[in-house]
Amino acid sequence: MSVSQSAVHLVNHLGHDYLRQALENDVRTGLTSTPKWLPPKWFYDAAGSDLFSQITRLPEYYPTRRELAILRREALDIATRSGADTLVELGSGTSEKTVLLLDALSSTGTLRTYTPVDVDAVTLGDAARRLAARYPGLAVQAVCADFEHHLALLPREGRRMVAFLGGTIGNLDPAAREVFLKELRGTLRSGDTFLLGADLVKDTGRLVAAYDDAAGVTAAFNRNVLHVVNRELDADFEPDAFDHVAIYDARQDWIEMRLRASRAMRVRVGGLGLTVPFAAGEEMRTEISAKFRPEGLRKELAAAGFTVNHHYTDPTGDFSLVLARA
Ligand code: AVJ
Repeated sequence: MSVSQSAVHLVNHLGHDYLRQALENDVRTGLTSTPKWLPPKWFYDAAGSDLFSQITRLPEYYPTRRELAILRREALDIATRSGADTLVELGSGTSEKTVLLLDALSSTGTLRTYTPVDVDAVTLGDAARRLAARYPGLAVQAVCADFEHHLALLPREGRRMVAFLGGTIGNLDPAAREVFLKELRGTLRSGDTFLLGADLVKDTGRLVAAYDDAAGVTAAFNRNVLHVVNRELDADFEPDAFDHVAIYDARQDWIEMRLRASRAMRVRVGGLGLTVPFAAGEEMRTEISAKFRPEGLRKELAAAGFTVNHHYTDPTGDFSLVLARA
């Protein structure tokens, strides 16, 4: 499917039942595994996206503020170093931070094309039209795709900077990161750049607080995945019967979010013809959010064929933006 409207062009690489199939596969696999798990990508229906946006404003949740602070200060330097005429943004969502990069790239005079990439066609279309209106002359080539599976389908024209912001790379475990980074490098030409936002290892208390806030917003966000499965797959999870758990695994350098069954129960997932038993106290993993060290980031990027051009951090050293060259 392809829809043109003034400077906005949207290509949808997801078949109409792609997300449905992916959800069914993930839920079946995750709920029949030991231990059980669900992937974090299913947090983000309309309610979950709204809860995440509330999370970004919580006093305990520093990553969004830190990344914004770095972008505000360094966007021009990033734009100049990249020399990009095409900004590709993976998991663009509402493209809130994107304007900082687009402003910088237009002020250095190179900007021609913006390619937001997201699995949600509605969010993508809204963001694409909003940015096309804000930047006359900018060609917005939106791509509805899953960046874990469809990198090879992204447009390859121009001198590109691929931005992957927000620390979303932390949702991938080391093996998945290796695959992702190698695949991404494979789609780039030498001289193209990759701008990666990554949360850094820090005091465990602050890390845990960021994922277990006092107001309980993250707990609601975590339980929201059960509402999603109930609605989409005709399941009967009782979200209130699950406790929010956030722990920091210092050996793996990642935060793990879990949902802990407060009592023994059986959950029926009608859409999958599946009945899932939970023991009292049983924990199901719903997210990993990996934290990085600058040297580890450099190594992982180098293993995929990237060279770090510049490493930006905020004054507190909480968060990193890495500009790497293919
Ligand atoms: C959107 C994946 C970067 O890992 O910090 C926030 C998601 N989970 N609070 C993160 C999240 C719980 C967030 N990312």
